[in-house]
Amino acid sequence: MNNVEKVLELRAWRFPVLLCFIVTQCMVLQPAEGFNCSEPNSESLLSALQQNVLNRSAIRPVQDPTQPIIIGLAFTMYAILGVDEKAQLLKTLIWLDMKWQNEFAHWDPEECGTNKISLPRKSLWSPDIVINEFMEENTGPETYFVYLYSDGTVHDWLPVRVVSSCNMDIYTFPFDTQNCSYTFNSYLHNANDIQLVLRNPIEVSLNKTHKYMTTKGEWILLDMTAYQDNLNGSEEWNHLYVNLILKRHPTLYVVNLLVPSCFLISLDLWSFVLPPQDVDRSAFKMTLILGYTVFLLLMNDLLPVTGNTIPLLNVFFSICLALMVASLLETIIITNILHNSHDYPDVPRWLRFLVIDLLARLVCLSRKTPDDKDTPVVAPTQRPNVIETPIELVHQEPFGSLQRDLRAIRHYMEKSAATQQVSEDWIHIAQVVDRFLFFIYLIFISTSFITILVMWTT
Ligand SMILES: *[C@@H]1O[C@H](CO)[C@@H](O)[C@H](O)[C@H]1NC(C)=O
Ligand SMILES: *[C@@H]1O[C@H](CO)[C@@H](O)[C@H](O)[C@H]1NC(C)=O
Ligand SMILES: *[C@@H]1O[C@H](CO)[C@@H](O)[C@H](O)[C@H]1NC(C)=O
Repeated sequence: MNNVEKVLELRAWRFPVLLCFIVTQCMVLQPAEGFNCSEPNSESLLSALQQNVLNRSAIRPVQDPTQPIIIGLAFTMYAILGVDEKAQLLKTLIWLDMKWQNEFAHWDPEECGTNKISLPRKSLWSPDIVINEFMEENTGPETYFVYLYSDGTVHDWLPVRVVSSCNMDIYTFPFDTQNCSYTFNSYLHNANDIQLVLRNPIEVSLNKTHKYMTTKGEWILLDMTAYQDNLNGSEEWNHLYVNLILKRHPTLYVVNLLVPSCFLISLDLWSFVLPPQDVDRSAFKMTLILGYTVFLLLMNDLLPVTGNTIPLLNVFFSICLALMVASLLETIIITNILHNSHDYPDVPRWLRFLVIDLLARLVCLSRKTPDDKDTPVVAPTQRPNVIETPIELVHQEPFGSLQRDLRAIRHYMEKSAATQQVSEDWIHIAQVVDRFLFFIYLIFISTSFITILVMWTT
């Protein structure tokens, strides 16, 4: 119990202390440290500054060295220059806006004739704020000046071209959203010396970004969130984290990649309507596969590449190609069955069970009139008794040869009937498999169409 109370007490303590601390920090040690100008013009202000501020630019501008400097930070994203999925880089241009107090500078605006002066950035102390995700040096436009106000506020506003690393997940490409982050902190100074705060709520930054953003390219900034770790002057570094949620415009990819691919595979689907015995279906399919391969080669540049994850889209293309190849293979087999099935052995039992009994029912392609087809096989085995009796009854020599001929004919008929039966079985199997593949095709295409439409519209 005691402990909990202590903790609560401590918490209650901390807030006013922190508030006092910030207030004193912002109000700066007042007039005592101020200086006057000899005349109300910039020159005399500059010479006054040179004596009081500019010759102390090497040191952190605080009266009490144990106190941290609070850097108020704000930024606006001006452009999203690009996203490199392969290198996992995000390129943006931001306007970085920082304010802090220089406690050495404090003058009377009336005596000196102005309340602000612009000075070269190098002549004043400035914080070494970096974005931790920086992957390349800042190649933004160079700016040289900062504003110094009569109350000691320094206002630094500079464009930064940020090339930052960002862990991208392209699994759902082109319908992906990326979550990139910027971590602002001082490179050298820890929280004892420099603390970072966000000057405005992050929504202000987001609104400004939407107002000023010039690039209307592939990416839009959906959202920004910010948070920081509050350390209050420990040895740790004080970080300010900003998360950027970026969304890709998928239209280019849908129009250039998905729609043509769907057209091609629909064409392949319709080729099932071609009767395989009359038209060379396989040549048609082969041409289509060739066309699809060329299409994939041409569009390869549009697809993002990273080391570890494959976008779902690539899997979709692979399945399309696999289906095309499978249907070509199936067409070859069917053509073979249609032309050569009379030489085939009997349909194996397992195949008969699998295809004629199960698959055929599944695809609604059962035998139309099983009785008609069964009779030719059964009939000849029953008939001999009927035919042979009268011949044996006659028992005459000329009929002996006739009997032999008839036997031969019967034998031939039996055999051809059996062969025809086998052949018909095989053809039936071919038809069932054809229909089955057609259904698989149909299901795949309709589900992928619906998925794409849903993902595109939401
Ligand atoms: C500056 O001048 C004002 C009035 O002219 C005076 O009150 C003030 O003490 C002066 N400050 C310094 C630091 O000399
Ligand atoms: C800056 O100049 C003033 C006036 O000349 C002098 O009193 C002060 O010691 C100088 N400070 C440094 C750090 O040189
Ligand atoms: C973005 O990532 C950060 C951590 O890296 C996480 O805290 C945040 O919730 C993520 N935002 C979204 C919208 O996923």
